[in-house]
Amino acid sequence: MGSKYKLIPWIHETLRSFHFDSAFDAFSGSGVVSFLLKSMNKKVYSNDFLNFSSVISKAVIENKSDHLDKNDLSNLLDMNVNSDNFIQKTFGQVFYSKNDLIFLDKVSHNILNLTSPYKQALAYTALFRSCLKKQPRGVFTISGNLDKYNDGRRDLRLSIRQHFLEQVTIYNDTVFDNGKENASFNLNVFDFSQKMFKPDLVYMDPPYVPPSDDNCYIKRYHFLEGLSKYWQGEEIMEHTKVKKIKKKFTPFSYRKTAIEAFEQMFDKFSESTLVLSYSSNAYPDLETLISIMKNHKSNVDVRTKPHQYHFGNHSTVSRSKVNEYLIIGLD
Ligand SMILES: C[S@@+](CC[C@H](N)C(=O)[O-])C[C@H]1O[C@@H](n2cnc3c(N)ncnc32)[C@H](O)[C@@H]1O
Repeated sequence: MGSKYKLIPWIHETLRSFHFDSAFDAFSGSGVVSFLLKSMNKKVYSNDFLNFSSVISKAVIENKSDHLDKNDLSNLLDMNVNSDNFIQKTFGQVFYSKNDLIFLDKVSHNILNLTSPYKQALAYTALFRSCLKKQPRGVFTISGNLDKYNDGRRDLRLSIRQHFLEQVTIYNDTVFDNGKENASFNLNVFDFSQKMFKPDLVYMDPPYVPPSDDNCYIKRYHFLEGLSKYWQGEEIMEHTKVKKIKKKFTPFSYRKTAIEAFEQMFDKFSESTLVLSYSSNAYPDLETLISIMKNHKSNVDVRTKPHQYHFGNHSTVSRSKVNEYLIIGLD
């Protein structure tokens, strides 16, 4: 949800016209914008307050050389280990088949025996992607008998183990060294200060106050967030059908708090070039955001691109056709 994957060529086109050596992707999500920045040979700081997102960045942004080799893979796939069975116990009848759940318990155990934190992050990243592919519609809001979603797609036919083998190869191929010391963080954006670091450019893609429904990332991805730490320190809301964990408050998601949050964030990073991704169906509107950014930057420029969002397969046309903006603040 909210991935800028399809907009990467346009974001690239825009960013390449600025001179900068380091960049902070403050809301990294899938990590795709951080990956663009890394590919542009920038020093990249990648951050998300969700642990699973920061694990992805550790694997593909911070990591410059570690791959999962044959030996790692055979250790990861060892199903004779004596693992905990938390996932089987908790998610039986909720998500996946029994064999998939046993696989997840065993691999989670084996990942922790990998000695390199980068190899661990790569294995988790491959596992997250496998879980997403195997889950109908790629979100963890639906559970139980999911036959109605089964259109015979290969992604749904493959076991999580089969997906995992493919994803390990795919993610191994994403690892490269761009000659910079890139870093992945797992913090609330408001916990950063320009005393810690001063990136030349800050790219911001916060969640939007949605027109209706809500845009909670935990609601959709709670299973991956839990898996990324084997639910250590997370409280499962037992009364929920899908065994959710608590949502994380972010001021960007609410009308009452969003404007003040933008004010604070632009102020915090006012010494850097600011680049905000925003869309026409969100609150506050473009004019408001431009005027807030003008409080901190003397030059504010907007690039616009019409875009059609495809999320799940039930979004209405009016909801999915939007203008995407890049609001750029320079001195
Ligand atoms: C729109 S998504 C970013 C998508 C990303 N640019 C991509 O292309 O995949 C917003 C992200 O912001 C994160 N987030 C929300 N509030 C945050 C906060 N206060 N601090 C850090 N991250 C936050 C969410 O976890 C989510 O991953």
